[in-house]
Amino acid sequence: MKIGILTGGGDCPGLNAVIRAAVRVGVVRFGHTHVGLRRGWRGLLEGETVPLGLGDVSGLLHRGGTILGSSRTNPGAREGGMEQAVTALRDLGIEALIAIGGEDTLGVANRLYNEHNVKVIGVPKTIDNDLSGTDYTFGFSTAVQIATDAIDRLHTTAESHDRVMVVEVMGRHVGWIATHAGIAGGADAILIPERPMPMDEIVGHIQSRHESRGKDFSIIVVSEGAELGPTGGEVELDEFGHPQLAAIGVGERLAQAIRERTQFDTRVTVLGHVQRGGTPNAHDRILATRFGSHAAEMIAEGSFGRMAALHGDTMTDVPIAEAVAELKRVPPERYAVAEPFFG
Ligand code: F6P
Repeated sequence: MKIGILTGGGDCPGLNAVIRAAVRVGVVRFGHTHVGLRRGWRGLLEGETVPLGLGDVSGLLHRGGTILGSSRTNPGAREGGMEQAVTALRDLGIEALIAIGGEDTLGVANRLYNEHNVKVIGVPKTIDNDLSGTDYTFGFSTAVQIATDAIDRLHTTAESHDRVMVVEVMGRHVGWIATHAGIAGGADAILIPERPMPMDEIVGHIQSRHESRGKDFSIIVVSEGAELGPTGGEVELDEFGHPQLAAIGVGERLAQAIRERTQFDTRVTVLGHVQRGGTPNAHDRILATRFGSHAAEMIAEGSFGRMAALHGDTMTDVPIAEAVAELKRVPPERYAVAEPFFG
């Protein structure tokens, strides 16, 4: 079979490892050929492809980003876009498609399967870890490690200057990165969309450290989508309707509120796209390789309309519809692991 591969949505470390594994296993075990589609769904709509032979995927395991490029192009948001995608697959002679992406990219894949009988399988990709149906997505572990390393560094400078450090991390509308990096980095409070924390509670944690624990510095980790009351102003939306949360500046707004309420010297670090860049850690290289290998097997087995999924330590697959039905939010019991260490 001729297999198309695309990477859509926000990039993350591990994408190239998935491509490498899907092609290697597809060629060696199943005799498939592969073609890359440039820049997510945009490459399909524009018929922009690159060859993906064994030589093209050699040396990719450790490389960050995606050699195919990515975009947030949404065929479903364009007049006739879905039909154009189906026609493009036929014109390119692509018999089956591997879509590597988050809930937006896989939402399009699910529509192609259900509404147009396209032979497509999904691979869950996002640093946010917000895809249902899989315990973890590749990219998440590396993002947590990057954020944790940053928090470790911020501890020493906060302590040196008796400061409150607000660290804003990515995660879009869920708080998985903030929760895991906050636990790993020993945060004194963690703010996530799933668990609104009133300013009085935040201030209480800081003041209890400074007044009763003799600590003159604090680290507050805040997820970019955490609620701090009215954001004020309008922010730009992408083709899937997502706001550019970084433009809202929840970290800065939180720091200002802390300054006003505590008079403590407060600074803000917004980690932003640093969490998406660079080489995948060993965990994500292995997980991405497992996802890519399973994707090739799913194609061979004809498991279309399904997404590779990690359940515990077992690689399996679930209907794409299940993965994109609703966001996977941080459960209270996971956040509860961090709470005893606040303040
Ligand atoms: O979905 C991954 C992600 O990094 C989110 O955590 C973040 O809100 C968003 O993408 C940023 O999007 P962009 O790269 O388009 O600015």
